[in-house]
Amino acid sequence: MAGNWKMNLNHVEAVGLVQKLAWTLEDKKHDPEKSEVVVLPPFTDLRTVQTLVDGDRLKLGYGAQDVSAHNAGAYTGEVSAAMLHKLGCGYVLVGHSERRQYHGEDDALVNTKIKKLLRSGITPILCVGEARQTREAGEHVQHTTDQLAGALKDLNAEQASGIVVAYEPVWAIGTGQVATPDDAQEMSAAIRAKLAELHDQSVADAVRILYGGSVKAGNVAQIMAQPDVDGCLVGGASLVVEEFAAIARFY
Ligand code: G3P
Repeated sequence: MAGNWKMNLNHVEAVGLVQKLAWTLEDKKHDPEKSEVVVLPPFTDLRTVQTLVDGDRLKLGYGAQDVSAHNAGAYTGEVSAAMLHKLGCGYVLVGHSERRQYHGEDDALVNTKIKKLLRSGITPILCVGEARQTREAGEHVQHTTDQLAGALKDLNAEQASGIVVAYEPVWAIGTGQVATPDDAQEMSAAIRAKLAELHDQSVADAVRILYGGSVKAGNVAQIMAQPDVDGCLVGGASLVVEEFAAIARFY
């Protein structure tokens, strides 16, 4: 269960949320063996989150929301995979629809970023999913599996097994309009089938598939009941401790 904070909470506010989240999960007897809980704060919060997680041995993973496609050098404003690895990031989002929409990121760039992360030993969380018009045209499966194939281009089976895929229909992000459990299952199954086609069934079985888009404590149970949904990528609700803690306990 991953919480994408997006551009919310400064490093001081991050302390409060991470500590409260860890206490709440402990209090509710959350079992980290059954559900891995990860927070994805803005870059400026990562050092603070690392200090808290290491210092207090919190059972929380953390990572970033994006990474540079370059290794190092004259790339103003960029943050490399090696820098994120040094900060202890276990996961990094790539290809979030907000990056695709506002920064023109395409599948080739996403593919480069995934390779950089894998070389640094970080697990990419690859976001894929269709816009409303694409769904209305009945092209959502094709569109999403094309994004998947583009993002995983030239990866070998071992590398492909090491990624997490988040299906996030754009029309469900931040809108309160969650996909139906059947939609989430249809798309997660299609993603798994595409992984089997690109590699083999063992890769398809190894990859964890998350659903993202208006997940809340009140709808997570139906989503998680779907056989091909392994977890959730949560935006707004991950900023509310009790809500995210309740989501994290669905297993
Ligand atoms: O990456 C998570 C996301 O885009 C979903 O956001 O606010 O609809 O849960 P939200």
